[in-house]
Amino acid sequence: MENTETQPKLRSSAFGKDFIWGVSTSALQTEGAHNIDGKGPNIWDEFADLGKIKNKETHFDASNFYEKFEEDISLIKALGIPNFRFSLSWARILPDGTGKINEAGIAYYHKVIDTCIAYGIEPWVTLYHWDLPLLLERKGGWTNREILIWFEEYVSVCVRAFGSKVKHWMVLNEPLVFTGAGYFAGLHAPGKRGLKNFLAAAHHASLCMGIGLRTIKAIDPSANVGTTFNCFQVSAYNQNKVNINAATRIDALVNRMFIEAVLGLGYPTSEIKALRKIENYMLPGDTEMLKADFDFIGLQVYTREVVRHSWYTPYLHARLVPASRRKVYHTKMDWEVYPNSIYETIKKFSAYEGVKKIFITENGASFHDEIVAGEINDTQRIHYLEKHIAELHRAYKQTDKIAGYFVWSLTDNFEWAEGYEQRFGLIHIDYKTKKRSIKNSAKWYSSFLKE
Ligand code: GAL
Repeated sequence: MENTETQPKLRSSAFGKDFIWGVSTSALQTEGAHNIDGKGPNIWDEFADLGKIKNKETHFDASNFYEKFEEDISLIKALGIPNFRFSLSWARILPDGTGKINEAGIAYYHKVIDTCIAYGIEPWVTLYHWDLPLLLERKGGWTNREILIWFEEYVSVCVRAFGSKVKHWMVLNEPLVFTGAGYFAGLHAPGKRGLKNFLAAAHHASLCMGIGLRTIKAIDPSANVGTTFNCFQVSAYNQNKVNINAATRIDALVNRMFIEAVLGLGYPTSEIKALRKIENYMLPGDTEMLKADFDFIGLQVYTREVVRHSWYTPYLHARLVPASRRKVYHTKMDWEVYPNSIYETIKKFSAYEGVKKIFITENGASFHDEIVAGEINDTQRIHYLEKHIAELHRAYKQTDKIAGYFVWSLTDNFEWAEGYEQRFGLIHIDYKTKKRSIKNSAKWYSSFLKE
């Protein structure tokens, strides 16, 4: 697998032998088999059925990880990647969200986990990566406080089933994205809109992080438990006061709201006045219930954002200036390539006393990949990873809280409302044949990991 053009300058050994290196995926983006073996419908199944995905695509077969998991895990092994982060599909385990357990779903994840273990790959499991069972959404989903009870039941079923094999758990994937895009902006499933929906969903998601942690620990006190946040460095468009203030508000929303809630620091209501209404959803005792002493947090960093004031954006009066508009180097998602962001976010989050350990649980890029004579020479992705890992190393030298890094993603997959156009994989998927082809970035990561 050695390739002279893809030889990394920095080696993983520069991070010490205990540093965690891995690769990430999620259930909905890879599994397919959306109505197979007793799986119940989830909010994304309905969203796709309604034609809400770009080009009317669906995730219904995705990369078919459901059937191809063994091949994919054997590729992880062949590449020498020691840790694999993936998620469980709630509706595959509890088709109605609560109540009846789908034994076929439990058996399926046992096979996935057992295959990891057989190959010597450590499973890191996300409990909720955005695919809420549809029947729960019919009752209000994340806006209904009963989600606290539904979620506790789901977590408990999973940890009882897999806790003897899985030692690393992540409770939620990026609460801001699924509550913001799904319940405020209507861009993601379930396609709800408005401040009330967002505030209710956000507060319940915050509470569920602590509930998830405590449920796991009650069953397996030795489990290593975290939760993940999307985050990015925020810069003001220029030094005008209005733009600086706008950047402060975006920073509070993206980088502070959820972590500060679980650290017991409250929501950043002085920066974002509209957040004050979240109190309408708070009951006595919630402030205490929000506090969650996680073993680690996962940061998911892709870019930085430049922010300017805008009267047209409700509540926030701030907008992101797209990278293409700023004419800076960017990925196919129009996300600026700005490696310093990973350093700055680690620095920012590690400054919280209550944050004990940080893993970068996602970092990666979508570029236009071409297969030429059987080879995918994705040099832009290699440079992206190389530069971000160099910044990660800079952070590593300054704080011992940073303990690991996972590339997003193992394979190309279903990029939510963007469908299949965006390819983040180290491994290319031909969606017609489901053939896997190793990109040069995978070879690069593999050499980087080798001693
Ligand atoms: C994250 C998300 C992943 C993946 C990635 C790339 O926000 O957790 O599922 O889609 O972004 O956009």
